[in-house]
Amino acid sequence: SPATRIPGPEAGTLPGLAVAEAECTRCPLYKSATQVVPGEGRSRARLMIVGEQPGDREDLAGHPFVGPAGRLLDEALEETEIPRDSIFLTNAVKHFKFERRGKRRLHKRPNVGEIEQCRWWLEQERKLVSPVVLLAMGATAVRALMGRSTAVSALRGKICTLEDATPLIATIHPSYLLRIRDPESRAKERDGFIGDLSRAWRLAN
Ligand code: URA
Repeated sequence: SPATRIPGPEAGTLPGLAVAEAECTRCPLYKSATQVVPGEGRSRARLMIVGEQPGDREDLAGHPFVGPAGRLLDEALEETEIPRDSIFLTNAVKHFKFERRGKRRLHKRPNVGEIEQCRWWLEQERKLVSPVVLLAMGATAVRALMGRSTAVSALRGKICTLEDATPLIATIHPSYLLRIRDPESRAKERDGFIGDLSRAWRLAN
């Protein structure tokens, strides 16, 4: 709820925002993460794509979508002829949340409190980028952008309108595709993902 959202520093530019984010202590995730992973891309991008949170690789690199899910997203962007440097790519939560299992760090889903605290940054990115269209990949991005939980499946194929009139398209998260074993279902889901991406791009242009 908005009551849980304590105001923090405001930035006038994307580089300034990244600096402010690096100091964030709004939720405990900064303590165990390597670094913050700010959104990246063009400052006036027509399409803003929002994921969940950085993964293991992103946490180490400091850049969004550079791991396995990023590879999948890159392939999809290539197929839909969307140049990665023409969009703005970010996450609902900017620090990696994980559980240690021996040497491995296993991804843990951010909770509503973490998503709410991190909306402070996501909303500033939205203001600075001012995208024509938002693409939310997965339930966490939907929660962060809409301010309430809604199943992706219930929004699929629709164009939602946010409070500031920005159209939002919801789709699955690319990590979900990586988890589908059955090749046929995977191909079907992948087609759906590409379709959503391409619809968002056309709507934005
Ligand atoms: N998954 C995400 O949601 N974001 C990333 O940056 C990487 C993987």
